[in-house]
Amino acid sequence: MIRVAVNGYGTIGRRVADAVLKQKDMELEGVTKVRGDYRARLAVEKGLPLYAADGRHVPEFAKAGIETKGTLNDLLKRVDVVVDATPDEIGRGNKPIYERAGVKAIFQGGEEHSLTNFSFVAQCNFEKAAGKNMVRVVSCNTTALCRTLHALNSGLGILKARVVLVRRAADPDETSKGPIDAIVPDPVTVPSHHGPDVQSVIEGLNITTMALKVPETHMHLHSVIASLKGQPTRDRVLDALAKEPRVLLVDANAGFKSTASIIDMAREMNRPRNDVYEAVVWKDSVSVADGEAYFFLAVHQEAIVTPENIDAIRAVSGGIGKEQSMRVTDASLGIA
Ligand SMILES: NC(=O)c1ccc[n+]([C@@H]2O[C@H](COP(=O)([O-])OP(=O)(O)OC[C@H]3O[C@@H](n4cnc5c(N)ncnc54)[C@H](OP(=O)(O)O)[C@@H]3O)[C@@H](O)[C@H]2O)c1
Repeated sequence: MIRVAVNGYGTIGRRVADAVLKQKDMELEGVTKVRGDYRARLAVEKGLPLYAADGRHVPEFAKAGIETKGTLNDLLKRVDVVVDATPDEIGRGNKPIYERAGVKAIFQGGEEHSLTNFSFVAQCNFEKAAGKNMVRVVSCNTTALCRTLHALNSGLGILKARVVLVRRAADPDETSKGPIDAIVPDPVTVPSHHGPDVQSVIEGLNITTMALKVPETHMHLHSVIASLKGQPTRDRVLDALAKEPRVLLVDANAGFKSTASIIDMAREMNRPRNDVYEAVVWKDSVSVADGEAYFFLAVHQEAIVTPENIDAIRAVSGGIGKEQSMRVTDASLGIA
């Protein structure tokens, strides 16, 4: 059994914690929070051992009448691997704490690649994580791009990729973020950081990205254009995407008119929290002209990195290969 801690029980941490509970080879030893809010109370009611992220926060939990088992340092004594799901760049400060505790650590995409010098997407580089103490699961956007571009790169060969990312402004519960009535180039400068982030996983890929933010909370939508080697056809591109794990092809003719339909599908499938773990490609959008493939790609930012975190835990722990780990993870999460 791999004993796991989840440091940070927010958007990503709650999903990873639930996914760990579904793995037969893992034990969730506890989760941490800063605030003694309703989420902390619900975690305890679910039977999760709750720890304060820091000793300074213990009084807040006591005041709220919420039982904690100790602090992060106490939790780290009980585990083999910690998943750091704290807000952007807080993980950097946690790294020495994990090193001192002698536990392996999985960080998230809000941290820089340089924190671990290894960025992880299961189908691209699972094996290379073996023996590493610290890895970084890349962001939601990078995960989706890596899955789909990995499909095209290994199936046909990519000469260059150009991507425009339309990003959701905030997660559904982030009421203090915007915009609420504007489209924001974010960043205004081109290229955005997403291209180099993809290159941290698929080394040497010629990719340029630009990004903007829209008043929406549920998904990102990418427009992908990739120049391919040889004589690409629509059928060959579709075949490569269809064969790729964790890529879901949907069809506008079947009613998938927007990202709202995709979230609606997840609700109807009784996926926890409407989670869409797959990178979603509109089949109808896939086209090829002058050696270039085009498609629309939707990304459920809250959910897509959940399976990657589970595979990353196994990859650093050893003893199980890529295909088996991905198969077990996918079966546990209901990914077809
Ligand atoms: N949200 C997304 O769409 C998304 C997608 C992919 C990757 N990521 C990455 O995943 C990581 C986590 O993001 P998230 O959206 O899950 O964040 P979040 O919803 O804000 O949750 C952060 C969690 O960390 C806890 N925490 C622990 N130590 C903390 C500290 N020192 N200061 C503040 N909070 C602390 C918070 O406690 P409380 O709950 O008590 O406040 C909260 O539970 C980031 O690197 C992010 O870039 C996010």
